[in-house]
Amino acid sequence: MTNPEESSWTGDVESKLLPIYQHRHKLIEAVKENQFLVVTGETGSGKTTQLPQYLYKAGLCRDGKIGLTQPRRVAAITVAQRVSQEMGVSLGHQVGYQVRFDDCTTKDTLVKYMTDGCMLREILTDRSLRQYSVVILDEVHERSLNTDILLGLLKKTPSRGCHGRTLPLKVVVMSATLETDKLSVFLGDCPVFAIPGRTYPVKELFCNLIGPKEKEGSAYVKAVVKMALDVHTNEAAGDILVFLTDQQKQIFQPAPAGVRKCVVATNIAATSLTINGVRYIVDSGFVKQLNHNSRVGLDILDVVPISKSEAQQRAGRAGRTSPGKCFRIYNKEFWEKCMPEYTVPEIQRTSLTSVILTLKCLGVHDVIRFPYLDHPEERFILDALKKLYQFDAIDRKGNVTTLGRLMVEFPLPPGLTRALLKSAALGCEEVMLPVAAMLSVENIFIRPGCHFSNRTVITVITTILITVHTFLYFVHKGLPEKQKEAEIMHRELAARAGGSNDFLMLLCIFEKCRASENPSAWSKDHWIHWRALKSAFSVETQLKEILFRLKQRKDFPQETFKGSKSELLRQCLCQGYFTNVARRSFGKAFCTMDGHGSTVHIHPSSSLFGQEAQLDWIIFHDVLVTSRVYVRTVCPIRYDWVEGLLPKLHEIDVYDLSNVAREEVTDEEMARWEKKRVAQKQMETNEDASKKLEKR
Ligand code: CDP
Ligand code: MG
Repeated sequence: MTNPEESSWTGDVESKLLPIYQHRHKLIEAVKENQFLVVTGETGSGKTTQLPQYLYKAGLCRDGKIGLTQPRRVAAITVAQRVSQEMGVSLGHQVGYQVRFDDCTTKDTLVKYMTDGCMLREILTDRSLRQYSVVILDEVHERSLNTDILLGLLKKTPSRGCHGRTLPLKVVVMSATLETDKLSVFLGDCPVFAIPGRTYPVKELFCNLIGPKEKEGSAYVKAVVKMALDVHTNEAAGDILVFLTDQQKQIFQPAPAGVRKCVVATNIAATSLTINGVRYIVDSGFVKQLNHNSRVGLDILDVVPISKSEAQQRAGRAGRTSPGKCFRIYNKEFWEKCMPEYTVPEIQRTSLTSVILTLKCLGVHDVIRFPYLDHPEERFILDALKKLYQFDAIDRKGNVTTLGRLMVEFPLPPGLTRALLKSAALGCEEVMLPVAAMLSVENIFIRPGCHFSNRTVITVITTILITVHTFLYFVHKGLPEKQKEAEIMHRELAARAGGSNDFLMLLCIFEKCRASENPSAWSKDHWIHWRALKSAFSVETQLKEILFRLKQRKDFPQETFKGSKSELLRQCLCQGYFTNVARRSFGKAFCTMDGHGSTVHIHPSSSLFGQEAQLDWIIFHDVLVTSRVYVRTVCPIRYDWVEGLLPKLHEIDVYDLSNVAREEVTDEEMARWEKKRVAQKQMETNEDASKKLEKR
């Protein structure tokens, strides 16, 4: 039987030149014949854009959709756009995408690009993914947390009933040319389909601008800019791709004739996206990475040296269309001493709280012996269980509670979800919803020319480059002299919200803008990013929908409260942020109450900065580590609001958790542990007392 689409659609000319095209028949066969398949090939060979189209054409959509996961939002969206263009259909119909808070699919969608996080949420509603015939996990070598969890879950793919038949779900795992054997072994020795590459040699040069001493700090930014300038003045025609750590989106347009394009990119360009025409790479050797900081007990975005394998990926980007050169700003010593062999998978370096809750809700009780491709340290799993216990999402036996089942429905961090659910129980979600939405979108405040020291350097260099008749393509509109104007406006906005609560300030901005006649003009006048605020509006609507659905449940909690709006908001926030409580210790310093006892300071961007002397107890949303540990998005609270919650932070023993994490626990065992714990506490108290006596 042929697919009706097959005859009418032939694919575009350009895609027939891609390396994958020659192998399409064998590839389709391999997918048809195997339940699991690993597909590997150089970046740009056509895996992401072509394979779903081939399978679609070959009729594999007859029994369900083809879903392709990406670790990054931008990649999921841009690839879906590209593929819909290639197929000549409008985006959102046959080809669509879904990322957190943005669903561009319809009931007709058969090829669906999505983030790995979205796929994980779909598994929550349908463990056997009945809607899909093929699931493709893409960019697996990136080892994102969600992709790793999906690998473990899909390893045991359930069969799905369809038209009275039982069909296995097909799982294709795609990766750049790294660790493919390991993947194949993990998936029960499944076959590996390697697409032969078509690459040109890349000369790799160490440029000695950075050594091990510059491991931390921002010296690399200047060095990168110098290098880009050198390449521009000394090298033959060809575009430059600069790997920095900034988060700006790439610009894809070809450069006008006679002009050299210079793209400044983050890690994303290493494998997820292909930019044609690049001959030179300038590699900073650094990347921004989310790491769990055990000192402060939170995930923190750090700038760290990249791994050697990542450096090789970056270099490879220069040899796509012709021979190229890769200029590494660091020296050989930096390579040897500072750069690890492989990038540590996200699962081994970030907080696991949300995924552990997801696994528990999926009925995976033993989260320690779950099939991880690389096992996270046990203490990370226990930390996550401890957090979930503190939030009342699981009980002492490790079972999910009613609250936990409600929490898992929200694509938000557990603390924020708990605060939102508390507000809904009190019937005042209209104050928390906008705050949760505002905290879920990118930074809303326009702060021209101030936050990135890199940006300032780049602006200066842009000017130089333009004078030598070159365009440097990146987004930078801010001018340092506008900084004051923005600051004054933001201070005024803070004052309008009472001047001492960053969360309330977010709520006020949300409400004021939405009520204004022309919201985009309002944003511009108040130095607020309209795009971010607009997505906050949409996020709020979606969170409201989830909440509305959950409120229909009989077990949805209900409580009553009377008080001012600010007080109500702060009390709800305490329910989710009691793990982020700090008390002023001396001067402008605060001490956290979560057992780490870290010293923190209020970040200058907070409306409470400078008011420290009047504060006692505060809660904060997140942490920024520079020379100091700063807390951001802060509000003052009263001790009695968290008094009942703080003991929970010290209540549970990691020993108990390591047991409940492994197996179902009986009541008798539970009682035995409790006895043991009390006895141990008693012993410690006795020891303390005897030490005191000795001192005397
Ligand atoms: O997945 P893989 O790296 O193997 O290749 P791909 O992403 O499917 O890219 C195949 C081709 O499509 C490349 O030549 C890209 O330049 C092009 N492409 C594009 O122009 N725009 C996109 N958003 C994605 C791909
Ligand atoms: Mg790809």
